[in-house]
Amino acid sequence: MSTPDNDVLLRVDNLVKYFPVKSSGYFQKKEFVHAVDGVSLSVRRGETFGIVGETGSGKSTLGRSIARLYDITAGSITFDGQEISQYSQRRMRPLRRQIQMVFQDPMGSLNPRRRVGSIIGDPFAIHGLATGAERKRRVQELMERVGLNPEHFNRFPAEFSGGQRQRIGVARALAFQPKLIICDEPVSALDVSIQAQVINLLADLQAEFGLTYIFIAHDLSVVRHVSNNVAVMYLGQLTEIAPADDLFTVARHPYTGALLSAVPLPDPDLSERREQIILVGDVPSPIAPPSGCRFHPRCPKAAPVCVSTIPVLEPKLGDKPAHVAACHLPMAQGENLADFHPTIAAAQRVIEGGGLLSGDEAEVSTVAAEALATSDTPQPEGRRQ
Ligand SMILES: Nc1ncnc2c1ncn2[C@@H]1O[C@H](COP(=O)(O)OP(=O)(O)O)[C@@H](O)[C@H]1O
Ligand code: SF4
Ligand SMILES: [Mg+2]
Repeated sequence: MSTPDNDVLLRVDNLVKYFPVKSSGYFQKKEFVHAVDGVSLSVRRGETFGIVGETGSGKSTLGRSIARLYDITAGSITFDGQEISQYSQRRMRPLRRQIQMVFQDPMGSLNPRRRVGSIIGDPFAIHGLATGAERKRRVQELMERVGLNPEHFNRFPAEFSGGQRQRIGVARALAFQPKLIICDEPVSALDVSIQAQVINLLADLQAEFGLTYIFIAHDLSVVRHVSNNVAVMYLGQLTEIAPADDLFTVARHPYTGALLSAVPLPDPDLSERREQIILVGDVPSPIAPPSGCRFHPRCPKAAPVCVSTIPVLEPKLGDKPAHVAACHLPMAQGENLADFHPTIAAAQRVIEGGGLLSGDEAEVSTVAAEALATSDTPQPEGRRQ
């Protein structure tokens, strides 16, 4: 992952983001939520890179860390050739417009007391791109482009439907003429019929403006339709990355397999024949993640090695280099997860944080710990835009 490549717009190496948590008890031991814990990925220009995983797996934290809405704990972020992970707010300013975010809840990210024309027109004002009548013309052009009625320039966000508000969010992001748009569950709050419209709009805009997207969702079926490559995230780490078609035909990681089993297939016969794998147990605490493979307490294939040793994210069973999975016992094609049972006792399965660190995890943890030790007092963790 270290060779320079002009096709790559974003490269993330070993990104770590821990949040300090208030601890109880007399000694006030410092604890951290391991929200993102050693993530590496690269996103090529013009592609859509999907990130999928259950709620709480760290997807939003990863997206916001990449956009540098958070200071990160450790790791590096190279955007368009610049290593931005340690940039100050001032140095980030010219780059802010190039990395935009579209959020799940457009209402939460749009000021309810401002008219839509001013909201979408902000970027023109902030960057001195257009004023007066020219600004109004460009805002109305954008409104039309995203499927809003330009006559509604003077309306307030509350006067629009959920789908229309998401279009406002997209128009505002577009006004900055970004290179990368991080869409964080952009359609999760919308009705299914409206979801398709917004997804189609994003796809059209991508083709027209050569945009690159990171598309975050908890629902694999949404990610499947839009992504060139997909990364699966679990408890702060990536468990599998693959070209979308490969992931949906041969998932190697049992977690991907379990997520996929919940996605309805277009062919009802096939859908009926396939069993849905219900993941047992809750997602463990990201404050003290399980040792070895973090998925081991819930994995139908878990074996002793999964508790003791961290699996490396690498091609499995002859897969091409773009398809990597972090699993000691990857699934072969046609294998049915429902046929498996863990070969370790339940009591052996959860060994919480720090017990059995080995190899890479020890290294990531050391890097993170050093970074935490040298950082100032914890930053307030709000959105900074
Ligand atoms: N600002 C924060 N302070 C403390 N913990 C946080 C904060 N934001 C997220 N977390 C925790 O980090 C973990 C990952 O959260 P998040 O990135 O929102 O996951 P996802 O987007 O996949 O649902 C969760 O355990 C969540 O509670
Ligand atoms: S490494 Fe072990 S516990 Fe983890 S996904 Fe693979 S088989 Fe399951
Ligand atoms: Mg989220």
